[in-house]
Amino acid sequence: MQNFTFSNITKIVFGRGVEERVGREAAQYGRKVLLHYGGGHIVRSGLKARVEASLREAGLEIIELGGVQPNPRLSLVREGIELVRREGIDLILAVGGGSVIDSAKAIAIGVPYDGDVWDFFAGRAQAEESLPLGVVLTIPAAGSESSPSAVITNEDGWLKRGYTAIVMRPKFALLNPELTFSLPAYQTACGVADMTAHILERYFTNEPDVGFSDQLCEAALRGIIQEAPRAIAEPEDYGARANIMWAGTVAHNDLLGMGRIEDWASHGIEHELSAIYDTAHGAGLAIVFPAWMKYVYKHNPARFVQFAVRVFGVEQDFFNPERTILEGIRCLEEFFRRIGLPVRLQEADIPADRLEEMAAKATADGPLGSFVPLEKDDVLAIYQLANA
Ligand code: NZQ
Ligand code: ZN
Repeated sequence: MQNFTFSNITKIVFGRGVEERVGREAAQYGRKVLLHYGGGHIVRSGLKARVEASLREAGLEIIELGGVQPNPRLSLVREGIELVRREGIDLILAVGGGSVIDSAKAIAIGVPYDGDVWDFFAGRAQAEESLPLGVVLTIPAAGSESSPSAVITNEDGWLKRGYTAIVMRPKFALLNPELTFSLPAYQTACGVADMTAHILERYFTNEPDVGFSDQLCEAALRGIIQEAPRAIAEPEDYGARANIMWAGTVAHNDLLGMGRIEDWASHGIEHELSAIYDTAHGAGLAIVFPAWMKYVYKHNPARFVQFAVRVFGVEQDFFNPERTILEGIRCLEEFFRRIGLPVRLQEADIPADRLEEMAAKATADGPLGSFVPLEKDDVLAIYQLANA
């Protein structure tokens, strides 16, 4: 097991009605707040009005910036940075999902930085400071509510790039499962695939002696596999929604990766699909992850046997481990299919004519992943497996 430091400063407040506390939480960080949100579901549901009332009651002045698109764009981040500077805003409140939170994070590190905010995402600068950031979460998926990362799409070249800096972790996140009742089945499933992938990116490691966190990951996966179909069949089942919401945070708050060398190749491979075809991130992962597994399992078969047996209860074939492994991958595909996700490029209407270009873009900054470092040809082979 690797040495590690675990520190997660995000205060999570979880349960029915917790968004009513947003004014009290936000008031600890200043008087003037940027209310950042997406395409309008929070307006239609009445959440925006409730959040505004709570902020005003706590004496906060509100400036708003809506319009964050899924796969959030750099141009809006730049607009937000200018707005925050011009208005002298003290803190940012993201009300929405991963896209809104990531856009807010990029604004928050861009404001105190003299250069262009894309420098962080292009690997040219390190963020040392950030404005304080709070979250009211409406979709359990990206885990951005307590992660130190943001993923932004630069329209100039359609580059989707992630950036991680410890200063980006939100100060607080309010998680009310009732706010997720309105999520359509497909968005719910995309979120489930994303949190599943966040655990798998950590699970597939070459690091020895990580048996304890292996079992944490396996239990988290089993919990998601059990609760997701319930949340989709009964959108207003509070228990199922609550379990999925907490799982999404735990999957990506760093706990499950401690002491391990994480992989993250599948995320890099998926980002090309989102960047070029605007595919929902979770749907892209449901396509890419099983293909990645098929390509790399020979590198560490025992880990894949363990996955199949412990997560999906596949019967171990002692004389033919490959059969056990392939059955585990089939079970993962079957799970994604059952909750309504595509598992092949064609099923998401993604044509096969730009696979080579995507493989080159994905590896432009060097090989992807650590379980098996992947060069351009490896990534191309994975896209082809996803097209099979
Ligand atoms: O735009 P609005 O109106 O808010 O609608 C959203 C959006 O259309 C809608 N939605 C959200 N909550 C809803 C709702 N609709 C009805 N009822 C609700 N309660 O759902 C749509 C998708 O929202 P989005 O924020 O894009 O989803 P998600 O949370 O999955 O975020 C995806 C983004 O996060 C990035 C992804 O790459 C992608 O850009 N990621 C960020 C990470 C991080 N910062 O740590 C890690 C992840 O791996 C991921 O890469
Ligand atoms: Zn993800």
